[in-house]
Amino acid sequence: MPVSTEADSVRTERNSEAPWDSFDSLAYFEHNYRTLRSDDRQILARVGAHFSAHFAEFPAKQLHGIDVGAGTNLYPALAMLPWCETITLFERSAGNVEWLGRAKAEGFGANWQPFWDVLTVNEPYDLFPDPRAAFSRVADVRQGDLFGGLPGSGYGIGTMFFVAESLSTEYGEFQDAVSAFAGSLAPGAPFAAAFMENSLGYEVGDLRFPACRIEAEHVTHSLEPFAAEGMKVERIDIPAELLLRDGYTGMLLALGRRSDGTG
Ligand SMILES: C[S@@+](CC[C@H](N)C(=O)[O-])C[C@H]1O[C@@H](n2cnc3c(N)ncnc32)[C@H](O)[C@@H]1O
Repeated sequence: MPVSTEADSVRTERNSEAPWDSFDSLAYFEHNYRTLRSDDRQILARVGAHFSAHFAEFPAKQLHGIDVGAGTNLYPALAMLPWCETITLFERSAGNVEWLGRAKAEGFGANWQPFWDVLTVNEPYDLFPDPRAAFSRVADVRQGDLFGGLPGSGYGIGTMFFVAESLSTEYGEFQDAVSAFAGSLAPGAPFAAAFMENSLGYEVGDLRFPACRIEAEHVTHSLEPFAAEGMKVERIDIPAELLLRDGYTGMLLALGRRSDGTG
């Protein structure tokens, strides 16, 4: 997830103005996902329990899933794996698309095993064979701009992690990104979306990227029109070791199901 910096707080930067193709995939991966952090562990545990409970109530398989703005984070895709025939990993940045393509072609790295292990306390992750091979089989890496339209609609399951609030300083673009994500889901599709709370921008390698400062009420407000009753927005604290270094106040996790209405 992004590391916030106060220095960005005053500058307005729209999504189309940020240098996405120069996003340093390796630096981002090393900083965030080389090892499993306690906040990601908490998020992943909740996401796994959410999907597991959803499909225990509404059985389904061979779904088409989507992770919007996948970056170099494979754990949202891992959380969708047992139910998916395809998982579209949708990304704007050329560098991230290349990174994702390598993860598919070569098989994901050993660092992702502890992430998978968090999921296996729930059914059916516990009995799911060879997630590494399954990821390579189902991952469908696509480059594109979520504002120009996602590559399809009617996805049966979806995730969007640290994207809508981390692509622009503009609240309108935050809302539009959430709408694009939620609008791509089929009626009844379970979803998980994570957000940085009060982020003012972040650095990846030598470059800064914009963020929009949001809190739980903004997440609720933007997703509610699309969500069935019972959506939860939870707050996850920053790990103690990061308190002094990173300029955001926490993370927010929305877990729900797409409503049957048109949204
Ligand atoms: C802060 S990163 C989050 C990456 C990853 N989801 C994670 O959990 O760490 C934001 C991601 O959104 C992508 N992104 C930014 N604008 C986008 C757009 N208009 N369409 C699709 N992806 C976009 C960036 O390339 C980047 O990978």
